[in-house]
Amino acid sequence: MSIFSVAIDGPAGAGKSTVAKGVAKRLGIVYVDTGAMYRAMGLKTIRLGIPSDDAERVVPILEETSVALEFKDGTQHVLLDGEDVSGLIRTQEVSNAASKVSAIPEVRFKMVKLQQQLAKNTSLTMDGRDICQYVLPQAEYKFFVTASPDARTLRRYKELLEKGTLGAMTFNELLVEMHERDTRDSGRDCMPLKKAPDAILIDTTYMSIEESIDAVMRHIGGRE
Ligand code: DC
Repeated sequence: MSIFSVAIDGPAGAGKSTVAKGVAKRLGIVYVDTGAMYRAMGLKTIRLGIPSDDAERVVPILEETSVALEFKDGTQHVLLDGEDVSGLIRTQEVSNAASKVSAIPEVRFKMVKLQQQLAKNTSLTMDGRDICQYVLPQAEYKFFVTASPDARTLRRYKELLEKGTLGAMTFNELLVEMHERDTRDSGRDCMPLKKAPDAILIDTTYMSIEESIDAVMRHIGGRE
């Protein structure tokens, strides 16, 4: 069978990674979470004590920084300078750092190159913010997965609570942070979050995980 790509964009907490993962499982292909790469880069700036949005200080460290993806038993691991940081990048602090660092064009060029390389060699679902328009504009299937701000915040709230990384943050504080992040991700100059004209819109506000996966699969159907 020929290599094909399923590109999925959307804002934080829309359920796109859950959907992308579920679709990959049903199709028996790889799932690539591109946000993890920006998160790893965000973690690096935190560790170095560099403001994540300070391009003048971030760009010089890019060359000596390696961000790589590894797949073990179908699960993605992200390596930062050779260290598996997959378990360290799901905090709110890293979310915000990732959003800031990802607005720096040089950071994006480095990550996008790697993402395009992956898609050349294998069929995959790939989720992020700029996949349909910039990373894989030739993708066979394109989706924009979204949900209402309240639904997205509630999902992220539950996720952080389950992972034990919510800290003292209230629902309303998280709502504000997610709004700030969405505004930054969609307002940046370089490869902003935006629905591609040819992407199919999936609103998961009132959908369960299975229903959301079904909604995407209905458009892919024949590949199963
Ligand atoms: O999908 P996520 O929440 O793990 O992404 C973290 C941040 O990384 C997000 O706020 C914006 C950035 N990002 C991006 O700019 N482009 C992508 N393809 C994926 C993520």
